[in-house]
Formats: sequence, C-alpha cells, structure tokens
Amino acid sequence: MIAEGRTYVVMGLLDAESIAYAIGKTIVQFGGKVIYTVQNERMKKIFFDSSRNTKMTDEEKESLDIRFCDVTVADEVRDLFASTGPIAGVVHSIAFANPKTLLADGFHTDRMDDVTLSYHVSCASLATVVKYAQPVMPDGGGVVALSFDTRHVYPYYNWMGVHKSAMEALVRALARRHGRDNVRINAVSAGPLFTMAASKIPGFGQLSATWSSVSPLTWDATADRQAVADGVAFLLGPYARRITGHILPVDGGAAIVGGDLLESEKPPAPPHEQPHFEAKPRCTRS
Ligand SMILES: NC(=O)c1ccc[n+]([C@@H]2O[C@H](COP(=O)([O-])OP(=O)(O)OC[C@H]3O[C@@H](n4cnc5c(N)ncnc54)[C@H](O)[C@@H]3O)[C@@H](O)[C@H]2O)c1
Repeated sequence: MIAEGRTYVVMGLLDAESIAYAIGKTIVQFGGKVIYTVQNERMKKIFFDSSRNTKMTDEEKESLDIRFCDVTVADEVRDLFASTGPIAGVVHSIAFANPKTLLADGFHTDRMDDVTLSYHVSCASLATVVKYAQPVMPDGGGVVALSFDTRHVYPYYNWMGVHKSAMEALVRALARRHGRDNVRINAVSAGPLFTMAASKIPGFGQLSATWSSVSPLTWDATADRQAVADGVAFLLGPYARRITGHILPVDGGAAIVGGDLLESEKPPAPPHEQPHFEAKPRCTRS
C-alpha cells in the first residue's frame, strides 16, 4: 500500500490516541519507515509522560524517531525537511483552535488573532510543509492532510469548519501546482474520533453518537481510527499514483446520506469488516 522501505514524515503526534500515531503504525506495518513530528519539547514530554500513553511501553516510545516542528515557524519546517533525507511522503495531521473563542457557543468575531493563528496552523501551514518537503521528494511522492466534513455545519465547530473548507481548497490548489513535480496532494475527511483535539469540541460525544446512526457502515469513534489510517496510507502510496487534489471521506458513508437511516438500513453488529488484504508477515497488526 505504501512504498516499501521508504521514509514518510508524519506530522502531528501528541499521544497514542492521535490519528498521526495510528497512521505511523500503519506505515510501519506495511514496510515503511516513519519520522514523527511533535510541535515542541513540551509536546514531546506529553507524549512520553501522558497517562493516555500507558498502553505503550517505554521501549516502544524510545524506538520512535520523533522530531520537533512548529508548523507556524517556516524555518522549523525548512530545517525539518533539511534533516530527513529523501522521503516518499508527508502526513499533515495538525489543527488548532482556541476552544474558548473559536469552538464556543457563539460565533466570535472579536478575537481575530485567534482566528488567524488557527488558520495558519490548520490550513496555511500545509503550503509551507509542501514547499519544503517537495525538494526531498525528487521522484515525487504523496502528501495527505486530515479534514472533517465540510458539506454540513456542526454546532461549536464554527471557525474550524471554515478553516477545514479553506484547507480542502488549498489541497486542490497545491495539487495543481505540484503535479509537474509528481507530488500528489490529497486529504482524508475522517469521521469523528476520540482524540485530544476532539476533546476540545463541546458536544463531541453527542456528535460521534449521531454519526454512528447516519453511517450505512456505522461508525465507531474509537475503533475506526485504524480505518482512517488505512485510507491515509492508500493515498500516500503508489496505489494512488494517479489521484491528486481529492478529499476522500473515510466516515462510514455518512457523507452521502440524507436524513436518518431507516431501522431496516442499519447493519447488524458487529459492523467492522476486516481488511480484505493480508499484511505481509512482518507487517501483522497487533
Ligand atoms: N479527531 C477527530 O474527530 C478528527 C476528525 C477529522 C479530522 N481530524 C483532524 O485530524 C488531525 C489530527 O487531529 P487529532 O484528532 O489526531 O488530534 P491530536 O490532538 O492528537 O493532534 C493534533 C496535533 O496538532 C498539533 N499542533 C497544533 N498546533 C501545532 C503547531 N503550531 N505546529 C505543529 N503541530 C501543531 C498538536 O500538537 C497535535 O499533535 C487534525 O487536522 C484534525 O482536525 C480529526
């Protein structure tokens, strides 16, 4: 699914619940190498100390190649890709919004500094990342960002919904610009998953419960992290070699459904099909 033996940079690691971590594990399971990035020293400490990470052994944590990169600092992005050597792809799994002003009950317009920072981190930084990553992908490669349903409006998601729409437009613009470099830029639009970023969105539990009732394949905000990682791995790798500028929903099918599912349309439990492909022996999922 991904280019075996090649290196991928996965940006946006916070803890073991991060979508970035599921993606990184998937890349390794398919024979790739991973360089993770965390925002700064403090975030690395959270990764090593957090009680959320008790399911990982110290040995596992120490085995990861983790580097620092604040995506709002162009020099840090430049230095990161100057240090990686040739890579086959990049995952931008990063977003930020001040929950008090941008994910609040009202639609705030009085904190444009917060709006600007959120836009920079969650959208514009993708262009900075592509700018500095492209030279270390001389034969081309894949870039995948993470989005969330931009066709509907959700309570509290406010400015983040706006920034996700802008990010999807940026994916298309970058895809057009970098086709000549054989660099493909796509995004996965994921259904709701329980992560630290999601925990800042009021009513997220209710949103994820609703989601499972409107998805023809159903949706599990914990278990489907792996389905999202598989979708990202597909877009990153050579099986997607003629796909660029697209937003792939990995959402249990929720994006195409109007209204609620009828009782007769709901699948019986357990809803989760196993992947139809077999990972190679050393790539077996734990
Ligand atoms: N969790 C969901 O329900 C869901 C659904 C769809 C899309 N997404 C998207 O997935 C991506 C990953 O989020 P997650 O849910 O795994 O949460 P997460 O909190 O684990 O990851 C967010 C990451 O963004 C990083 N970040 C914030 N500001 C940064 C900066 N200036 N520089 C570098 N890194 C910075 C954080 O440190 C963190 O590692 C985000 O783009 C998010 O919007 C999440």
